[in-house]
Amino acid sequence: MNYKLNKRLLCAASFVERGASVADIGCDHAYLPIYLIKENIASSVVACDINEGPCNTARENISRQGLENVIAVKCTDGLCGIEDIAPENIVICGMGGDLIFRIISESAYTKENRPLLILQAMTKVNELRASLLYSGYNIEKEALVYDDRLYEVIVCRYDGIKREWSEAELLTGIHTEKNELYKIHIDKLIKQYTVIIKGKKKALLDTSKEEKILEELQNERNRII
Ligand SMILES: C[S@@+](CC[C@H](N)C(=O)[O-])C[C@H]1O[C@@H](n2cnc3c(N)ncnc32)[C@H](O)[C@@H]1O
Repeated sequence: MNYKLNKRLLCAASFVERGASVADIGCDHAYLPIYLIKENIASSVVACDINEGPCNTARENISRQGLENVIAVKCTDGLCGIEDIAPENIVICGMGGDLIFRIISESAYTKENRPLLILQAMTKVNELRASLLYSGYNIEKEALVYDDRLYEVIVCRYDGIKREWSEAELLTGIHTEKNELYKIHIDKLIKQYTVIIKGKKKALLDTSKEEKILEELQNERNRII
């Protein structure tokens, strides 16, 4: 098996702290856990998944690499029983933003132990940001990565301080590196909001909220030209 990761998972892996104990929630094939051990990034990884099928695939792939001693497989719902593993880093990739937040909020572990959370949501990334910030998680870093499409990776940790971002900031994320991908990301959002406003206007609906978001997005775009 080739343990090289796709760009999306590679980007998530780049935020794992060197020497950390890691839990990969929703591990599926366990490519990420295998990579983290093979590349000497993590000291140990627990590959977790709610479904037996992925857990079995994970076990097979891990055993093919002879890594059973450093990668355990746990068949569990979200962070259920995570206290026994006590990971320093938790990775949750490839799920919807609402599911990711449900998983985080259903356990006290991330608040009590403050592990680094590396999250990559397939949908509702803005809602995930809003829920995290409102619940006292500090978004420390973000990254954009282009694989088959643009993906966003959020790195955060609980510190108990609630934060409020504007609607536009929740959509864009806060990126220190205003690179080409960031431009593509903002352009996509501008296009999306232009279409939403057009549709709402056609239906004679109030567009003031969307117009405010669009204006903020356009201002941000102008700042990075
Ligand atoms: C689309 S795959 C993503 C796999 C990998 N993390 C990635 O990003 O490529 C989603 C995985 O999450 C698992 N999953 C869904 N809900 C879960 C939950 N509540 N707890 C743990 N795993 C879950 C699924 O069984 C599936 O294997």
